Amino acid sequence: MKPTLFSTKFLFLFLAVSSLAWAQKNEVYDLTTDQKINPLGLDNQHPQLGWKIKSEGYDVSQTKYQLLVGTQANFKAQEAFWDSGVINSDQSVHVPYAGPALEANTTYYWKVRVWTNNLKKPLQSAEAYWSMGLSPADWQAQWIGQTLEDDETRRSPYFRKEFSLSNKPIAKAYLHISSKGMYEAHLNGKRIGDAYLTPGWTSYNYRLQYQTYDVTNLLEAQNALGVTLGSGWYRGYLAWGDKNNHYGNQLGVRAQLMVRYQDGSEEVLNTDDSWNYNHGPIIDSELYDGEIFDARLVNPNWTTFGFQANQTKKAQIQTEEVPLVATANELIKKHEVFEVKEKIETPSGDLVLDFGQNLVGWVSFQHAGKAGDSLHIYHAEILDKEGEFYTENLRDADQKNTFILNGDPNFVYEPHFTFQGFRYIKIEGDTTIDPSKFKAIALYSAMPDTGGFETSNALINQLQHNIEWGQKGNFLDVPTDCPQRDERLGWTGDAQAFYNTAAFNRNVKSFFDKWLLDLALDQREDGSVPFVVPNVLGKDAMGSAGWADAATIIPWNAYLIYGDKTALKQHYPSMKNWVGYMEQLATNGLYKGGFHFGDWLFYRPNDDNSGRAAVTSKELIAQSFFIHSLDIMARSARVLGEEKDVAHYTKQLQAAKKAYQNEFITPSGRLLSETQTAYVLALQFGLLPENVKAQAVERLVDNIKSYDTHLTTGFLGTPYLCHVLSENGRADVAMALLMQKSYPSWLYPVTQGATTIWERWDGLKPDGSTQTPSMNSYNHYAYGAIGEWMYNNLLGIQRQTDNPGFKAFTLKPLFSNDFSFIKGHFETVHGTIKVNWTQENERVQLAFEVPVNTTAKVDLTSIESTERILFQNNKRKGTPIEAVTTLGSGKYRIELTKMN
Ligand code: BGC
Repeated sequence: MKPTLFSTKFLFLFLAVSSLAWAQKNEVYDLTTDQKINPLGLDNQHPQLGWKIKSEGYDVSQTKYQLLVGTQANFKAQEAFWDSGVINSDQSVHVPYAGPALEANTTYYWKVRVWTNNLKKPLQSAEAYWSMGLSPADWQAQWIGQTLEDDETRRSPYFRKEFSLSNKPIAKAYLHISSKGMYEAHLNGKRIGDAYLTPGWTSYNYRLQYQTYDVTNLLEAQNALGVTLGSGWYRGYLAWGDKNNHYGNQLGVRAQLMVRYQDGSEEVLNTDDSWNYNHGPIIDSELYDGEIFDARLVNPNWTTFGFQANQTKKAQIQTEEVPLVATANELIKKHEVFEVKEKIETPSGDLVLDFGQNLVGWVSFQHAGKAGDSLHIYHAEILDKEGEFYTENLRDADQKNTFILNGDPNFVYEPHFTFQGFRYIKIEGDTTIDPSKFKAIALYSAMPDTGGFETSNALINQLQHNIEWGQKGNFLDVPTDCPQRDERLGWTGDAQAFYNTAAFNRNVKSFFDKWLLDLALDQREDGSVPFVVPNVLGKDAMGSAGWADAATIIPWNAYLIYGDKTALKQHYPSMKNWVGYMEQLATNGLYKGGFHFGDWLFYRPNDDNSGRAAVTSKELIAQSFFIHSLDIMARSARVLGEEKDVAHYTKQLQAAKKAYQNEFITPSGRLLSETQTAYVLALQFGLLPENVKAQAVERLVDNIKSYDTHLTTGFLGTPYLCHVLSENGRADVAMALLMQKSYPSWLYPVTQGATTIWERWDGLKPDGSTQTPSMNSYNHYAYGAIGEWMYNNLLGIQRQTDNPGFKAFTLKPLFSNDFSFIKGHFETVHGTIKVNWTQENERVQLAFEVPVNTTAKVDLTSIESTERILFQNNKRKGTPIEAVTTLGSGKYRIELTKMN
């Protein structure tokens, strides 16, 4: 290479790199439409647009924006289909599209110009897009299925259709598809999309989500489209007592493939009675029990044009309609893949593989066995005391996949319409396997990762890991209690308890917006809220305090975290209905509800002769949550400008508090139930008169100490326990509870090798024995609710009620001596908050980053310290700062010396 050429190249490279570096200094990025990056198939006429801003400067905020929407990629400003005009506003999230009506099956491109207070010229974003789906009137395709007799065999039908396209260049082709049951679709031999267990689970009695896929690149002149179906949530077994067909007994598919040519003409292929079907390798599939797959029946040419399938039958038109709606949440995708950590032969001779992580998904493998031989894979979360494969806690769920081999050593076996919760598998049948050919694949809803932290304490890191895996394993389209036994239901109480933690780890906005709509649909006419959503337990399984309050607690917290008023407004009627139901049952402010689960799974010693079990009165709990929900209603009404409601709920709130105080507090200030949960709820929900607050904190602390610094709380008290302590001057006790290693505590399961959060504090006893098998899941996120407190206090990131969406936030780490460093981040809708603090010999360094367009209230009052020195760009900034200081965007460091 000649030196001159080299230097020119180098110069170009240098210019490219430096312009990239320059481009990143000030940038508009992460453009989202309805909270997603480039989503397909929306049915919202006013999609919400959002963006984030990066700038190296300080105190940067947006002053103006201008939105441009076009119908062609790379459109010019003057070609815009909608131009918002220049808007004087610092709003950069949840900005509704307000242009002309949006057309079905059409792609829209958009960009934003942003003016900031530190630059003369506006920043120009790159282009993003979304596509519209189909309104009910745009659906021409028919529902098709098989004969009832074929449905009764429970074998998966394989529907197929061949078609040719005009010989013209295609601009865009979208497939819109949904099913009763689950579907997988193939076009010309390729799987369509990378989503699994589609169309997901909604309250099918009212609505089914369809998905939209861009299939432009899969199409040819001659095509074959195929769709396979499995029972899934629609007609598979769910809940207990051998119940299936919850929504119907016949599978069905509705698909509409819409091809738009570059010349503007269109061609549409619909499911109708010209489709054929036959049966293939999926012999049976059930969520709880697993799948039977006969690989000898696989035909790789199934979706190849010209292939003559055997024994095909004509598809049956189905007249029964289920309203189709666009997909609101992220779909389930494949994520982490685990290799076998250990091959084990159990004492009784079972062949077991350990993947080292309790996860949810399935195992895929290759195996050079004989055609016709079978391999049975069983799934379990733990090995028992004796080292045997333990499945008793699965109750009636078999979690067993059977594969009949086809003799091809390269064939990749995996199930389709089921999932398992497991760390270990047991293999029966042909056991001459090669463990390196077995992989465990984690499946979960693809919610963006938003938070994480690492500390100097390995046990705490493992606890956070377990919380994250509890979330992954139980966020498969619906927030479930557990993913393995014959349950896997959307328990409302568990979801509300874990919500705030979940929202730190992942962006759960769309996931819960979708679920809350199902909650509203499944709400009883009188406003009562089901134990589980989607409700498969019937009209009487409703109204438990702390469970049903998911209807108010989740939308309100979502508003505080994401700042989306439109969503709060959408959920408001459902919130109101639930609270209205309680008001109906209240007399003079005292709520008399029906059945309540209470403080589920609270501490209960085996031999309880002296009454150490932490039983909290269910009436007291119900009244506490009634008040909390009324409080949320008053606040929500205020945000939404519902003045009449503000007055109404404020009055009800006062009456309910008075009733609580008359009924549950003695004149000297003791609560009816002397439990941690009772005091925690009273302090958290503001139920106490000022004059007894201090002694309530004292009583709570005394109670904790009387159990040798252990918690005794169940599902309802646990999420608030440490918050109440740290907010009432007893962060020391909160820390002691967090660091407690013996049962009951968060770290006890960690010391026992847990890789997920357990349902019970003592799921596995120190001697290796297990808790009651009928209620002993090893992957149950509820107790993982401590996560929020760790983000709030270890890392120090706290939201502010008056500044939803982290438009302003508080940074207040505890700087506990239990840690020498903690670093982490949280991705807010406005950008990333980063924190990294270290301490050594009383010297504390706190480095952090405040996103553009936000402010941070840095609160260093949790420790006594000497002068606090602020650094910007590594340069010391003037005089020392106060213990509480508000700072705008930028990267900072504060140095101080602890005095205590
Ligand atoms: C579930 C819980 C749920 C509870 C109701 C259990 O079977 O697994 O997590 O909240 O029932 O108390």
